[in-house]
Amino acid sequence: MLIGVVKESRPGETRVAATPATAGQLVKLGYEVVVEPRAGAASSFSDEAYVGAGANIGDALSADIVLGVNPPSKEQLDGLREGATLISLLSPALDPALVQDLARRPITALSMDAVPRISRAQSLDVLSSMANIAGYRAVVEAAHEFGRFFTGQVTAAGKVPAAKVLVAGAGVAGLAAIGAARSLGAIVRATDPRPEVADQVKSLGGEYLAIESAEAEVSATGYAKEMGHDYQARETELYAEQCEDIDIIITTALIPGKPAPRLITAEMVAAMQPGSVIVDMAASNGGNVEGTVAGKRVVTANGVSIVGYTDLAGRLPAQASQLYGTNLVNLMKLMTPDKDGRLVLDFDDVVLRSMTVVRDGDLTWPPPPVQVSAAPAAPPARAAAGTPAAGQDKQQISPAKRFGAVAVIGTLLFLAAALSPQALLGHLTVFVLAVVVGSYVIGHVHHALHTPLMSVTNAISGVIVVGALLQIGHGDTAITSVSFVAILLVAINIFGGFAVTRRMLAMFSRS
Ligand code: NAI
Repeated sequence: MLIGVVKESRPGETRVAATPATAGQLVKLGYEVVVEPRAGAASSFSDEAYVGAGANIGDALSADIVLGVNPPSKEQLDGLREGATLISLLSPALDPALVQDLARRPITALSMDAVPRISRAQSLDVLSSMANIAGYRAVVEAAHEFGRFFTGQVTAAGKVPAAKVLVAGAGVAGLAAIGAARSLGAIVRATDPRPEVADQVKSLGGEYLAIESAEAEVSATGYAKEMGHDYQARETELYAEQCEDIDIIITTALIPGKPAPRLITAEMVAAMQPGSVIVDMAASNGGNVEGTVAGKRVVTANGVSIVGYTDLAGRLPAQASQLYGTNLVNLMKLMTPDKDGRLVLDFDDVVLRSMTVVRDGDLTWPPPPVQVSAAPAAPPARAAAGTPAAGQDKQQISPAKRFGAVAVIGTLLFLAAALSPQALLGHLTVFVLAVVVGSYVIGHVHHALHTPLMSVTNAISGVIVVGALLQIGHGDTAITSVSFVAILLVAINIFGGFAVTRRMLAMFSRS
């Protein structure tokens, strides 16, 4: 079958649905590939490069399978031949008129932005790959507007403070923004109603600002639900407080199928320092910030720049095209099980079913809901609203059981003391004290440190070596054998403990 790669018709679009590299991969799947002249020019891919990868240059619209980035224009739709399969971003949930138009034609249409957020479909997930690029680019735009260092410096000419960045919404774009801002040296804070992202934020070097509301809960889908009044009130308080302190805000808050939640009001913007920057990534969906203009940069009366660019991914065109093209190749692999250049649209595959808007002229949109599980199972319910303190979610032992256990142990110890010979009593006392002190010391050490701690405590068992060495030359074969075994076991214990610790520490050191 013939795959056509169109030249994007939307003004300002820099991306292309296939790069020379991905066109070559499509050829390897058994397809013939034709690319419209200069389709990759805005991404710096020449026609010659496509030819070098095994594609032809020519009319792409009359192909069997037509690949694009944006929804097709009327002219492009009219140019499709009967039975063609169109694959591009179609936003079917937001553009019912286009869906109706597609359904009137004898074609099949798959929407790249309708890939369900399930692990198996991650390699096709265009929204994630584009949001990742856009989050990075949002920081680059912010740094450009800010016009000051992100990293703090102490120089002979004076001290430069580090920029403070707040990222609202720690999904794909938000996490990419946190990583980029941290790598430039900024102090980064982030918030999100899904508490499970706290660890991800911290692992990127950011500080997670928890909003203490019972509505903030672990999401089973990877997406947040619309938040209620309590959360919104607390969130507003947090943003109002942060706006007085922060230099740069990057907003990425999104609730699927809803207009972007309004997070930052005009009063909050007015409280920011002149020269501060806001990048509102949700601009095309109504904006998270009051005063955002989609596609534009505006400067408020108090000198705060609000950037509402909607083409952030396209501002890194070569890489955006490469990732988009790779998502398409992964889709084509799924639809070409025999690698023979023949497309098979398997409706039993939940991923393909979810993406199909029209099949052979029949409307198949909306698809049945998909059971997604993007997040791990929810942890046990928290005792109270808010962030749990470390160890708070440990299983609690009831006071009655606790007293019972103490009474039993006390009785046993009393009996042991009463019945044991005088010589053993001293040893028993030392043993009991060692157990109590040891459990208090170890019990208060973080789990992650147990292994390194163990290697040191293992070394204490080295005292056994001293005892065994004194006994080994005793003359009695039994004592010599036991001493030898003791020395062997203790040596394994000591050296093994340090070897494990060394391996653990090696995992944290840069090669
Ligand atoms: P995502 O769904 O992965 O992340 C959105 C995050 O917002 C989620 O973590 C969600 O929990 C959070 N959120 C929801 N309500 C919130 C609230 N009230 N306060 C704080 N956080 C809240 O979405 P993704 O893929 O990261 O995209 C983020 C935004 O970036 C979207 O609006 C998307 O349309 C936009 N985008 C913009 C581009 C541009 O060029 N401007 C390019 C690509 C994406």
